Amino acid sequence: MSSDLGKIAVIGGGNIGEALIAGLLKAGVEPTSIFATNRSPERSSELAQRYGILTGSDNVEAVTDASMCFLCVKPAQILEVIEEVSDTVARHDESTAIVSMAAGITLAAIEGAVSAAGTPLFRVMPNTPMLVGRGVHVVASSRFVDEEKRAQVLGVLAATGRVVEVPERLIDAATAVSGSGPAYFFLLTEALVDAGVSLGLPRDVAQELAAATASGAGEMLMEGTSPAQLRHAVCSPAGTTVAAVRELEESGLRGALYRATEAAAARSAELGE
Ligand SMILES: NC(=O)c1ccc[n+]([C@@H]2O[C@H](COP(=O)([O-])OP(=O)(O)OC[C@H]3O[C@@H](n4cnc5c(N)ncnc54)[C@H](OP(=O)(O)O)[C@@H]3O)[C@@H](O)[C@H]2O)c1
Repeated sequence: MSSDLGKIAVIGGGNIGEALIAGLLKAGVEPTSIFATNRSPERSSELAQRYGILTGSDNVEAVTDASMCFLCVKPAQILEVIEEVSDTVARHDESTAIVSMAAGITLAAIEGAVSAAGTPLFRVMPNTPMLVGRGVHVVASSRFVDEEKRAQVLGVLAATGRVVEVPERLIDAATAVSGSGPAYFFLLTEALVDAGVSLGLPRDVAQELAAATASGAGEMLMEGTSPAQLRHAVCSPAGTTVAAVRELEESGLRGALYRATEAAAARSAELGE
């Protein structure tokens, strides 16, 4: 990543904010170019000690002359934080990109809260594997984003995971697949562990088998072969796997995923209203 990113403000150093900070440092960003804020001084000193970054509770100080400002507070706080920092962003000669990581908050709502009309805005739906550098960031951007700003912001996000750009109308659907997706795989793994215990495996052994299998299957999927092809390759005729797959299909696994993702997308749209 370019070492010349300028000052990076991270407003809200909670789970997502900390994952972003950790990823940036791992990618070689200078710790003192990051300024993170929290309201609680305890959390700020914890982050300063752990990462050597600048911290504080003053959001205006954090965004002053920043090249980008990542908003990692809860959705309910996003607009009030933007209003708090918006005049400072407007006064910056170089443009400061505003990057919201909040579920549900639309680019139109963000645009309505900033003072300078041409501020480059990004709406990102991350997911929690960014905590281990393996996140997925679904990104939609406003019409005021130029190529240079886009490359800068997407490069920073890439430090903690894969970046996929979509038009904003697809963000709710993407939220249902990747934003909420880790929970589906956790639930599936949890159920597989219980099923293994029911078959007589000690719980720690079942847990190790299920988690390592999820990780290995994930690695194979990332090599680009389609999931259907990978599954066909492990379903030998009249074998054990095809017997299990038949039970899963008859139990309605596919239908459950259609319904689950519809519920998640609808909830995401509702949060933005
Ligand atoms: N966690 C996920 O799985 C996930 C997935 C996708 C998207 N997101 C999005 O990521 C965002 C952050 O989620 P999170 O899980 O990281 O939440 P979190 O752990 O609660 O972090 C929010 C942080 O913001 C700080 N904060 C609150 N108000 C502030 C203010 N006015 N100024 C400065 N700092 C402030 C809080 O600390 P103080 O209370 O000390 O101020 C806290 O450390 C949310 O908008 C969420 O929609 C999260």
